[in-house]
Amino acid sequence: MKRLTVPAIRKRKVGGATAEPIVMLTAYTARQAQLLDAHCDVLLVGDSLGQVIYGLPSSVQVTLDMMAAHGAAVVRGSYHSVVIVDMPFGSYEASPQQAFESASRLLKETGCAGVKLEGGEAMAPTVEFLVKRGIPVIGHVGLTPQAVNVLGGYNARGRSHAEAQKIVTDAVALDAAGAFAIVIEGVVEPIAIDVTKAVTCPTIGIGASAQCDGQVLVTEDMLGMFERVPRFVRRYEEIADTISAAAERYATDVRARTFPGIEQTYQPK
Ligand code: KIV
Ligand code: NA
Repeated sequence: MKRLTVPAIRKRKVGGATAEPIVMLTAYTARQAQLLDAHCDVLLVGDSLGQVIYGLPSSVQVTLDMMAAHGAAVVRGSYHSVVIVDMPFGSYEASPQQAFESASRLLKETGCAGVKLEGGEAMAPTVEFLVKRGIPVIGHVGLTPQAVNVLGGYNARGRSHAEAQKIVTDAVALDAAGAFAIVIEGVVEPIAIDVTKAVTCPTIGIGASAQCDGQVLVTEDMLGMFERVPRFVRRYEEIADTISAAAERYATDVRARTFPGIEQTYQPK
């Protein structure tokens, strides 16, 4: 299987000639990437790794070093999906030049195909700057978690008319700037429809209804690693239960001296 390309993803617009919904999941490690790769079109090394892997309170504290290390692992663990790495907070907002330095570092150090960054109209000149210099970009509008300190939480966006209009304007600006796809997060269904109709690139929804051109979830959320997940997550597994039950059985065996057994023990010949 040859690795998919950014232009191939760009063409996957519902209503387009051969459109088929884009399947995207997050991945942070090589082994996780190996397991997800064949089933996905895009693997996103999301800055959600701040909470999921590092136990941080939000993605605001995630660093470029973290993204580079996990991005490289995911590229090593995959050969089919397009790998996109999130630009962390503080690595791109100051200027297009800052964004280019950070994004080019991610491409060089990880081998990823492109980057994702949060923000709408304000980030459009930056998106254009990157794309014109050879760095594919996915935009991210609606609920933008890096802005949690401004938004005051993770509530769905676009419930007022003004907010809804702004989300559409943001997406249109990113599309015009050359983003090859746009993630829409945490918006009511009519906005997802409006955005998806208003832009020429595919939209990828998370908590944004089935009306987008693709879907993304945080893998650990859909696997049931966490007790509490947003309403928009469908849990396909309950692996937290599996893991803690295994740890419980292991602990019982060690305490009873029934592990290791004969099969797990080396003996002289
Ligand atoms: O960081 C992340 O995992 C994301 C996706 C949820 C879109 O940005
Ligand atoms: Na993210």
